[in-house]
Amino acid sequence: MRTQLLAALKEADDYISGQELCEHFGVSRTAIWKAVKQLKEAGYVIEAVQNKGYKIVSTPDCLNTAELESIRKTKWAGREIFYFDTIDSTNTKAKQLAEEGHPTGTLVVAEKQEAGRGRRGRGFESPAGVGIFMTLVLKPDFAPDRASMLTLIAALAVSKAISEKTGQEAEIKWPNDIVMNGKKVCGILTEMSAQLDYINHVVIGIGINVQNESFPKEIEQVATSILMETGQHVNRAELIEAVLEQFERYYEIFLETEDLSGLVKEYNAHLINMQKQVRVLDPKEPYEAKAMGITPHGELIVDTWEGRKLVSSGEVS
Ligand code: BTN
Repeated sequence: MRTQLLAALKEADDYISGQELCEHFGVSRTAIWKAVKQLKEAGYVIEAVQNKGYKIVSTPDCLNTAELESIRKTKWAGREIFYFDTIDSTNTKAKQLAEEGHPTGTLVVAEKQEAGRGRRGRGFESPAGVGIFMTLVLKPDFAPDRASMLTLIAALAVSKAISEKTGQEAEIKWPNDIVMNGKKVCGILTEMSAQLDYINHVVIGIGINVQNESFPKEIEQVATSILMETGQHVNRAELIEAVLEQFERYYEIFLETEDLSGLVKEYNAHLINMQKQVRVLDPKEPYEAKAMGITPHGELIVDTWEGRKLVSSGEVS
């Protein structure tokens, strides 16, 4: 009821009468009044005027299921939403839900993570009230060797969504960090459960620093937030919706060829390393090179004094 009422109030440009809402939902006036009360308690400002009805005046920056569902415009991403005030890691929960049979598009969102996980066994700072910690479940039909490309699609989607919401450029540091003014604003952790020729599921975990005003000493030189870089308070639910919409769009393009050929140009246009000197952190021996963009399989093309090489995993700095 809360979700449907919220959606109806957001859709209306003007007041909607209690009577209209009762008839629309087939419930009593008391049921409407109770749902309005719940929304007010959650921080929504709703005006109630006699003989006119209800009108939503402002929405809090919250991530609950009702809010996310009330603004959902996607076809399948976020079709089932699981919200948690606190969780260990949204990736861990998403894997569990995927194994229990929840479909492609299932989304896990948390206000706070107590054991947020990053790439290469690192942690991910996940405080309450300021960030986006979410994981999307996919159960694709393509072969497991395609899955690493999904993480680049997610990076593109986040970069595009941040630019759309702030009007400012958010660049990609290959393969999937998002940076603003040289500092990291978003990290992505993609994990897969597969057999040799079959994907059981992929979970794409996205952590975005949105409203943070500071970071712990250990990461303050490298981490930043959208607020710190733009001075803008971007609504987190709306940013989630924008990321999901962009992801769906890019994923459709990817599915046409099952590679990134339709996206290379756009990815390279946002690549912070493009035509720049980078240090390739090869586990055997790090080396210097010039980044020349990505291949249709998502590898980073680098020119070294020994000639051209393709970097398929790892990191560059
Ligand atoms: C990285 O930069 O190393 C990747 C960070 C990924 C963090 C996100 S937050 C949501 C999801 N749940 C996790 O435990 N990790 C990812």
